[in-house]
Amino acid sequence: MLLRPTLHRGLPNANGNAPSQQSRAGVLNCELGMSKPFDIELERLTGQASYSEAFPGVDAGQRGTFFLETFGCQMNDHDSEKVAGLLLSRGYRQAETPEAASLILYNTCSIREKAAQKVFSRLGEYRERQGEGKVIGVLGCVAQQEGEDIFKRAPWVSLVCGSASYSKLPEMLAQLEAGNQRVTGLDTDTDETFETEVTRRDNPWRAYLTIIEGCDKACSYCVVPFTRGPERSRASDSILREVRQLAELGYSEVQLLGQTVNSYADPTARKTRFSELLLAVADVEGIRRVRFTTSHPSDFTPDIVEAIGRELKICDHVHLPVQSGSTRVLRAMQRTYSREEYLEKIAMIRSAKRPIAITTDIIVGFPGERESEFEETLSLLDEVQYDSMFSFKYSPRPNTPSLSMSDSISEEEKGRRLAILQDKQREIQAAKNAKLVGERFEVLVSGKSRRENQWTGYTTSHRMINFASQESELLGTYVQVRVTGATPNGLVGEHVT
Ligand code: 5AD
Ligand code: SF4
Repeated sequence: MLLRPTLHRGLPNANGNAPSQQSRAGVLNCELGMSKPFDIELERLTGQASYSEAFPGVDAGQRGTFFLETFGCQMNDHDSEKVAGLLLSRGYRQAETPEAASLILYNTCSIREKAAQKVFSRLGEYRERQGEGKVIGVLGCVAQQEGEDIFKRAPWVSLVCGSASYSKLPEMLAQLEAGNQRVTGLDTDTDETFETEVTRRDNPWRAYLTIIEGCDKACSYCVVPFTRGPERSRASDSILREVRQLAELGYSEVQLLGQTVNSYADPTARKTRFSELLLAVADVEGIRRVRFTTSHPSDFTPDIVEAIGRELKICDHVHLPVQSGSTRVLRAMQRTYSREEYLEKIAMIRSAKRPIAITTDIIVGFPGERESEFEETLSLLDEVQYDSMFSFKYSPRPNTPSLSMSDSISEEEKGRRLAILQDKQREIQAAKNAKLVGERFEVLVSGKSRRENQWTGYTTSHRMINFASQESELLGTYVQVRVTGATPNGLVGEHVT
């Protein structure tokens, strides 16, 4: 049986690694984009030969059909995979279009105003479908943030559920079937999201795995501590059990996820450190690549660098958001480090036994950001020479401390700063990528171009590379590629054997 994927990525990964659209300036930013879904056989996901073996006693589709659309970061993508798995295991079938579904779920993102607006405009589009007797539900960060207010703003919605309550979804849906008009799940401090019976994974080679939920940092601009609640780490033995299962199912790359993934604190007596966890995951037979995102600079310790230097399976890429190059702005953002302290972390990463790619997130136009402070961010780019960057205009968010600061930089000025920043980064990337021409990389092939004999994949350092090969089937395999050309955003190359 083929599970037809209907998960689409709305906003590309704000946290570092997902495919994103290119901006006018050619630097990764936050345009809307759709992920390329794959068909994954149920057998691959569960290790069972058929639906009835995977879910004994459950008839596929007996409860109806669902359509699930996802906006936001990789954590949201992965949450959607878990929600889809849960619904499949309870007798729902996944539909390819909202028209074909009896239940329409929208997994939302509220990190920036634009993302949240997009949710409400999409809900407006769903309104027409309510007449057809469909259940419409809002999941994720907007659900958590707006809570029952969503019912006022979009009365055709009947289910609102934050990420910590997904395990209760079947119960909530049963309540709707029993005649309840509206149901909510808005707890924020449970860790029930970690353990799911089956996760309906979207990528056949790379599996996401959340190891830490929520966030205990309190960056003054950020909604995450409100929408995802306090930090909770998953037990190390449970993580390793799932990695072993994934390897048995044929996954060779795992990506450990968390808003502050390196703040991981094993709740078991083992007290496995994050670096030890990376090494233990890399040690699982069948695993070839271990990625992790997003790292917080304050918790980035020498043992993590040492682990990457020592174990080649741990990918040579660190996403280390700086947000600003000005210590005064960093203090106002409550980022817990100064420019100098951040640069010390960079120096530590640069001193590793092998080169490690470094990427970052930057916000321009934070309240009160002076021109000279913005210039400090530009000089930081010069100094660090990032391999890639996600950049955003500051967006005031509900509940956040910075909401009370006057949003003093005009949209026009924010746009000007963003464009200057992106132009600088594009130059840096163009120069860095050009230096890679002639080098050879191992690439995990993840896409086939419409153009004949053209493929795409990622290096361990997470550089995208488009390459030519005469082979007819390369998807999911690891191949050697020689770089023959470079653009600011990626590499081109040829398959070498
Ligand atoms: N405005 C603009 N960008 C933001 N980010 C988080 N909150 C905001 C906000 N209010 C960015 C940060 C973070 C990334 C996930 O999104 O750069 O690292
Ligand atoms: Fe938000 Fe800061 Fe936590 Fe990242 S570390 S999720 S920016 S509060």
